[in-house]
Parts: sequence; structure tokens; C-alpha cells
Amino acid sequence: MEMPYQLEVLWCRTFQSVLKIGNYFMGYRMPKYLEGPGKIRELGAFLKKKGINDVLVVTGSGMVRRGQVQPMLDGFERSGIRYTLQTFDTTDPTSDDVELGYKTYKENGCKSIVAIGGGSRIDCAKGIAAKAVHPRKTVAQLQGLLKVHWPIPPFVAIPTTAGAGSETTVAAVITDSATHRKAAINDPFLIPKYAVLDPELTVGLPPFTTATTGMDALAHAVEAYTNKTYNTKLENRLAKEAVKLIHDNILKAFEDGSDLEARQNMQRGAFYAGRAFTRGCVGYVHAIGHTLGGLYGVAHGLAMAVLLPHVMREFGASAHKRLAELADVCGIGGANEAEKANAFIRWIEETNKKMGLPDKFDVVQDKDIDQMITWAKKEANPLYPVPVIWVRKDFRRLIESIRK
Ligand SMILES: [Fe+2]
Repeated sequence: MEMPYQLEVLWCRTFQSVLKIGNYFMGYRMPKYLEGPGKIRELGAFLKKKGINDVLVVTGSGMVRRGQVQPMLDGFERSGIRYTLQTFDTTDPTSDDVELGYKTYKENGCKSIVAIGGGSRIDCAKGIAAKAVHPRKTVAQLQGLLKVHWPIPPFVAIPTTAGAGSETTVAAVITDSATHRKAAINDPFLIPKYAVLDPELTVGLPPFTTATTGMDALAHAVEAYTNKTYNTKLENRLAKEAVKLIHDNILKAFEDGSDLEARQNMQRGAFYAGRAFTRGCVGYVHAIGHTLGGLYGVAHGLAMAVLLPHVMREFGASAHKRLAELADVCGIGGANEAEKANAFIRWIEETNKKMGLPDKFDVVQDKDIDQMITWAKKEANPLYPVPVIWVRKDFRRLIESIRK
């Protein structure tokens, strides 16, 4: 039985007001970051200065094979940093990966962790860091909210895509090897101490990945900014800067992957957007997007690209003021708030089109829609402070609107 609409709204908004107060005690911080082409070569000297010596490097075996990690390791050797390499092949990190990584960490006397790779590698390394402070707990026991509650070893995150923002977030999504359940460890102690934004690492990304990960970052910023309640001035500022950086650079990075300035700006945009949604939260774009990923394997960024304009339009007048402010930041004009908001949504659609991304999906099956609604609603209500609270019929309308 679904709650009547007014009761659902009251429940969600009350929950959000209480959590807003709780958020002031959560210890959100922003990682310090090194930024610039070739910065990974200087990480060794930087860590040495900070007194960090024994490092576990967590990365993907493909990255090592392609020689992408070597410049950093050479820098470690120049600076006399001892390191142990732990590589993984899995796309999504599992609890077995975390256990293996922790064993390597312990057996080699490591005292800090450097994760270099996409969101999955960084999440896996965060899992290892959580184990380092709770060696007797299983990954399943650490999953959930605020289970780490203790400072992790010095942690450096080096993203090789510009999208997920894992280098700034509280979360590590790990799949349990026994049950196949995918769940997050969420704790502000998992926010990395340092991040390195080196655009040379993203130069080899194929255009499709550049497009979809970039749209994921945009979805983080737009959802965080249009959300109510949790943001402080910092999240609002970071979300606006992220939107401007992505607006000005996504097509440049898509069209010329070797444009280091555009790559750098996209990385910074993704980083700011990641920090904005860490406190400000995401919304229905993510909640529905996760169901498309779970049921049909739709890539996260692709789901975000398609859903973002549909969901923002569905919010209607409630989101106009905030979207108009984002339009202003990007120099997108209009006679009033509604016009500006709609022009901003159209810009997202046009950018998708220019990058060859679809505006709808043909994968959604009739038989799955009820399940999608249940999952999306469960993820989002009451946690996400979206501009308009939806009940089942609203989710259904939106899902129908993205079907081909
Ligand atoms: Fe995302």
C-alpha cells in the first residue's frame, strides 16, 4: 500500500529536515588536490614531504600493462617511497578483492594507500582502507552508514576518468562475493585525504566514455544544485562551477581527446560535482538510472545522459529558479526563469545529440516497470531532497517517457 501523496511528502520533507541538522556533525571535507599534466610524476616527492613512505598502490592490470602507472612508480623510486602493487581485473570490486588487497597491505607493512584508476578501483581501495581500521570485520559488516567511524590510513585517489567523483565522496560500492549483493560503505572518513587530477591520464579515453562519464558528472552537479535542504554555500558554489566547467569543455574533450586544457577542466568539474553531491545528494536521475544499470546493464553515464533532461523537465516550475541560475552561469539566455530553465535543458539534449547519445531507451520491458519503480522509490524517498517528491505514478510517467 502506498502512502497518500501528502503524507509521503510530509514524511520525506521531515526526514530531510532532521538529516540536514545531522549533516552539520558529519565532518564533510574536501580532499587537497594536486592538479596538472604529469602531476602523477611528482606524487612521490609530495608524499615524502608528508612523511608517507610505505604505500599500497591499488590499480587495474590493464593500466599497468599500458604503462600508465609507471611514471608514478618511477617518481616513488626517485623519492625513496616503498610501494607494493595490487592489481585487479574485475569491473566491479568484490569483497574478495578487498580481502586480497587488505592481505597484501598487511603482509607488506603498508601504511598508506594510493588508488589509481576509475571509480571501481578507488572504491576497492576505500574498502581496503576500511578493513585496515577494522581488520576483524567483514566487508558486509562495514557496508551501510557510518560503520568506519575512525580515520583511515593516508589515502590518495587518482581518477583516470572525469565523471564518477569517487575521489571526493564518502562512498565505496562493493559487491559481496558470496551473495552478489551490491552495497555501499558510506562514511565521511572514506573521503580521500589527497586527490591528483592529472589530465594526461584521461587522454586515452574513447569519445563515448568521455561523453557518458562527463554527463554523469553533469548529473551530479545539476541534481545537487536543484535539490533542496542539505546544501551549504560551498556545495552551491561547487555545483555551479562544475556546471560551467562541463558546459564549456565537454564537447571540446569529446571532439579532441588530446586537448589537455579541456581534459583538465572536465576533471576539475567532475571533482567539484563529486564534492557537491557528497553532501547535497543526487536525485531521481540517479535513482532511476541505477535500475537501468541493474536490470539491463546500461552504462551509468549513459543512463544519466538520457535521464537528466527528462527528469528536470518533469519537475516543471519547481526547478525553474535553480535551473535558470545554472543557465546564467553558462551564459544561456532567456526572457524569464522558465525560458532560461528550458533553454538549459535543451542545451543538455543538444549536447547529447552532438555526442551521438540517444534520447530514449529501447530496453525497458513492461514486466520490469513495477520493479524499477519500487527500487527507484526506495533509493530516493525519503533521502534525496529533490525539488518535487514523486509517488509511483510519477515514476511510471517518467519511465514511460524514456521508452522508445
Ligand atoms: Fe553518478
